[in-house]
Amino acid sequence: MDSGPLAVGIKPKEKDAGNAACIVDVDQLSVIRGNKLILKDIDFKIQKGEFIGIVGPNGGGKTTLLLSILGILKPSKGKIKLFGNKPMSKNLDGKISWVSQAASNIPNDLRVTVRELVALGTINRKNMFWGWRDNKKVEQVIDMVGLRDVSKIDIGRLSGGQRQRAVIGRALASDAEIIILDEPLVGIDREAKNALLKLLDDLCHTEEKTIIMVSHDLAAVRHTTHRMVYLEGSIRFDGIPPDFPTLEELALLRGIKDVHGGHHYDHSEEDCDGEHD
Ligand SMILES: Nc1ncnc2c1ncn2[C@@H]1O[C@H](COP(=O)(O)OP(=O)(O)OP(=O)(O)O)[C@@H](O)[C@H]1O
Ligand SMILES: [Mg+2]
Repeated sequence: MDSGPLAVGIKPKEKDAGNAACIVDVDQLSVIRGNKLILKDIDFKIQKGEFIGIVGPNGGGKTTLLLSILGILKPSKGKIKLFGNKPMSKNLDGKISWVSQAASNIPNDLRVTVRELVALGTINRKNMFWGWRDNKKVEQVIDMVGLRDVSKIDIGRLSGGQRQRAVIGRALASDAEIIILDEPLVGIDREAKNALLKLLDDLCHTEEKTIIMVSHDLAAVRHTTHRMVYLEGSIRFDGIPPDFPTLEELALLRGIKDVHGGHHYDHSEEDCDGEHD
């Protein structure tokens, strides 16, 4: 974590929280990709049942952090523990699920129904070869994600928001405790977005799922998540949404100078062609 004046919003509560229900522990993580230091000294813990929104500029390292938590990228320094285990360890089988942005881009000709996709989530290393499926769980999950009416329809024919829910359904069917979503709000309309965010929030409150969501939609993240992390190479903010920096503070955080020198041009006096009388 940055210790300079730009590192704001760290709540002692979060930093000093004990390890009791800490299920993700990222400790002094640095990650290098293609000879470039992408993440530097990332330090944070996630408690069970938290809904965390990770925001930040393009190239800020959000996906890199998620891939590191999943164990796909290896740290160049520091360590990550999930439920006390190294990422990808056998003990984590089925505990962590990844919902990629690609969910809303599923090809239209994909011949898999919602029910089949959700059922795929129940397959794990233990039941893979003897074909046992938890049908009750599948039906329960279909209701949970609100896709009962379209459960027999190919997912290629669903809207972006419905597809995203179907993929979340697969994650839920696997009984994953941590659901990681990279840009799930892209390509879905406002109504579907609100419904999806409500579903995620409900999952934290009623099912005690832990959700880590990366999104560029600052307003959505701010209004929905319980905790926000602003990532730009290092963590620049980690705290509750009401404490998230204003646009001016964010510009300061990012070292962006006001090109108008503090004077803001009043566009209300401007004609449509941009000329003044
Ligand atoms: N396979 C790769 N090899 C080398 N560098 C990479 C690779 N993938 C990403 N990077 C670099 O890592 C940095 C962080 O990328 P990352 O995808 O984590 O950012 P991000 O915050 O998720 O951005 P976006 O908001 O655009 O999704 C970028 O500078 C990017 O160019
Ligand atoms: Mg990304």
